[in-house]
Amino acid sequence: MKKRTIVKKKHTFVQIFDIEMIVCRTREEITNAVAEVRKANRSLGFVPTMGALHQGHISLVTRSIEENDCTAVSIFVNPTQFNNKNDLLTYPRTVEADLALLENAGVDIAFVPTIEAIYPEGLENVTESYDFGAIGAVMEGAARPGHFNGVGIVVHRLFDLIPADKGYFGMKDFQQIAIIREMVRQSNINIEIIPCPIVREEDGLALSSRNTRLNAEQRVQAVQISQTLFKAVDLVASSTVAEVKAFVENTVNNVPLLEVEYFEVVNGYTMQPISSWDEAEWVVGCITVNVGDVRLIDNIALKNI
Ligand code: PAJ
Repeated sequence: MKKRTIVKKKHTFVQIFDIEMIVCRTREEITNAVAEVRKANRSLGFVPTMGALHQGHISLVTRSIEENDCTAVSIFVNPTQFNNKNDLLTYPRTVEADLALLENAGVDIAFVPTIEAIYPEGLENVTESYDFGAIGAVMEGAARPGHFNGVGIVVHRLFDLIPADKGYFGMKDFQQIAIIREMVRQSNINIEIIPCPIVREEDGLALSSRNTRLNAEQRVQAVQISQTLFKAVDLVASSTVAEVKAFVENTVNNVPLLEVEYFEVVNGYTMQPISSWDEAEWVVGCITVNVGDVRLIDNIALKNI
């Protein structure tokens, strides 16, 4: 077990936050809590999550606490972004432990909405539909139909309920950040999107809520995903894009319990696949691997800005 640094923050600015983190469950509760922050003229950072929190999430929370007077975190397993029923059913849920982690980190407001608070019209009546263009047509957009639409819908609704100055997102979900930036642009939302680096286990595996679903053997082999990406970085100078792609796909597929769903080498701004290194200033390799029925994603910069 990793040692956790406990940062207890002293709140002095808004009376309701003097003692401890407040937990909001309804639209009214969150609206009132945010109004208190605004009334006190304090800056607000917001970290949306689906819970089963780990140090990857906490790194976003810590950054928000550093950069804002007040930090809100949402925990909501959003049904509209799951294109696979089993994935939604088996998604880990650890709300009590999550709230303890958030309180220890110094969070001011935890928003743990019911489905009705986010989707008052009922899930079957949700009609928004986003067109993210080319950004949403590749990789996770192609592999998980409807997924990014669900992400766009929920993040827009969360931003409406929690109109923060800054929103914090992890680069582990690399394409998701581009989708959220596009949603914010299309919807004219006044929020700054802050991308945060991937937090990894000591052996390199990117932290993910889904890692808890790996058995011991799968966990041992899953490390080959990140290790192969690290090796790919060293190959860039002496190899073509096609060679790096073949290396990553073959190396990961040669690990018995791992199956590559896709590995794409893309322009970091447009998400579009490239075929030679000079096609983009910023190049990122994005991978999705199935480990049994657990779907893991990771990515690495192959050419930096
Ligand atoms: P979730 O998977 O819970 O992730 C919440 C945030 O934590 C995302 O921005 C994600 O990129 C970030 N994160 C996860 N693992 C990380 C890691 N190892 N290092 C750094 N950041 C990491 O992403 C979602 O939830 C949902 O799609 C959401 C945006 C909340 C909308 O429902």
